[in-house]
Amino acid sequence: MKRLAVFASGTGSNFQAIAQACADGTLDARVALLVCDKPGAPVVEKAQAFGIESFVFNPKAYGSKAEYEADIVKKLDAQKVDLVCLAGYMRIVGEVLLGAYDGKIINIHPSLLPAFRGAHAVEEAVAYGVKVYGITIHWVNADLDGGKIIAQKAFEYDGDDPAEVHRIGQKIEHKLYVETIKQLI
Ligand code: GAR
Repeated sequence: MKRLAVFASGTGSNFQAIAQACADGTLDARVALLVCDKPGAPVVEKAQAFGIESFVFNPKAYGSKAEYEADIVKKLDAQKVDLVCLAGYMRIVGEVLLGAYDGKIINIHPSLLPAFRGAHAVEEAVAYGVKVYGITIHWVNADLDGGKIIAQKAFEYDGDDPAEVHRIGQKIEHKLYVETIKQLI
């Protein structure tokens, strides 16, 4: 059975979808670790509810990205993690983590990449007047939202409410992330 780590910074609805799919057997995998860079984020309680171990850290308590990523790598190694799933982890992955888990890290992003990279993809797309939105799952490399695409799903929306786009997109994300992990493992 493959061992997953999920990285998240906030709500954790994708974490929840992945953990639930592991719990009910939809995925033949186990979430071995949550990694969260925001102490007090709602995702931490979600991990507790599933009985999933978490590594919660405050980046400001470290001297550098390399230092906190070295701690993350220790936790991933200890849990013998096969696949790292970034799910709303709002940090750029650095060379320490990439070096140790190259080719084993995927990310979900709320746009049809390569359009609208970065942390405000939906807001920027709405401001641009986009009519076809989407979700992308891709391999993580050193470029922000730049690795090879694994899966995409598009949807149409002709309005100006980013919250509505997030709502529609997240329903798609939860399904697409579980389906994609299933294929990969
Ligand atoms: C998700 O919609 C994900 O696509 C986005 O953060 C959200 C996290 O939601 N990620 C990015 O914007 C990465 N650039 P969640 O905490 O409810 O899973």
